[in-house]
Amino acid sequence: MWQLECLFLLLIQIFQSIPTEEVPYWADVVLGFRKMTKDELKKFPQHVFGHAFTTLKCEGPAYLPWLQKRVKGNGGLILTRRIEDLWELHPSFDIVVNCSGLGSRQLAGDSKIFPVRGQVLKVQAPWVKHFIRDSSGLTYIYPGVSNVTLGGTRQKGDWNLSPDAEISKEILSRCCALEPSLRGAYDLREKVGLRPTRPSVRLEKELLAQDSRRLPVVHHYGHGSGGIAMHWGTALEATRLVNECVQVLRTPAPKSKL
Ligand SMILES: *[C@@H]1O[C@H](CO)[C@@H](O)[C@H](O)[C@H]1NC(C)=O
Ligand SMILES: *[C@@H]1O[C@H](CO)[C@@H](O)[C@H](O)[C@H]1NC(C)=O
Repeated sequence: MWQLECLFLLLIQIFQSIPTEEVPYWADVVLGFRKMTKDELKKFPQHVFGHAFTTLKCEGPAYLPWLQKRVKGNGGLILTRRIEDLWELHPSFDIVVNCSGLGSRQLAGDSKIFPVRGQVLKVQAPWVKHFIRDSSGLTYIYPGVSNVTLGGTRQKGDWNLSPDAEISKEILSRCCALEPSLRGAYDLREKVGLRPTRPSVRLEKELLAQDSRRLPVVHHYGHGSGGIAMHWGTALEATRLVNECVQVLRTPAPKSKL
């Protein structure tokens, strides 16, 4: 079946006060960046300033299988198994890239990683044709290929995967305040996800050593809500680190003095 992985849409980002940086540093990365006109802002009476630009949305459920197909197409083999300790991978594998997300908390003993809970609604509102978000990043309307995502929440340290009906009501009312036509949205479904967050992405290499064994590890996790936005760049950096590990493995270990 043909499936769209990504789509380009106009994004409107509105502010309740004038931001210090009226033109953000990424303005020329997106397409057609401009400030919104007074006329356009009339639609958002609580807001005094806005950005408009065209940007890309990748849909995980279609995009991730597409990426996986590329891995397999390049000779990659995908195995699924539960790992309690990275040493279980030695010596079958030479280098480990640790992308264990929230699971890294146990596996890597990294207590800096924590969930930021996000609850959203997936609704049918096929007339909504552009993204709208407020500057807090808390209230957003993101149309996709087959539904519209209404958000959201950022609840630090909350592991609860069950949707909260009160929060859903509140999200809908915040989104309707920005786009009143959403009162006509139908087929509302609640979704909850946990963003694997850290003060910053961990992107570094480490050489684990035990007796005479060496296992190079490239840590690559903690993208928070920015996984799709950042993945291509951080993956290129992780690849560079893996290449450095290959060099290390080719260098003989220092001789024991005994
Ligand atoms: C692997 O990454 C996780 C975070 O995803 C971290 O908690 C864990 O400590 C890492 N494993 C090792 C052996 O460093
Ligand atoms: C929303 O759309 C996405 C992308 O097409 C799809 O994978 C997902 O199942 C849909 N969710 C609901 C609740 O309809």
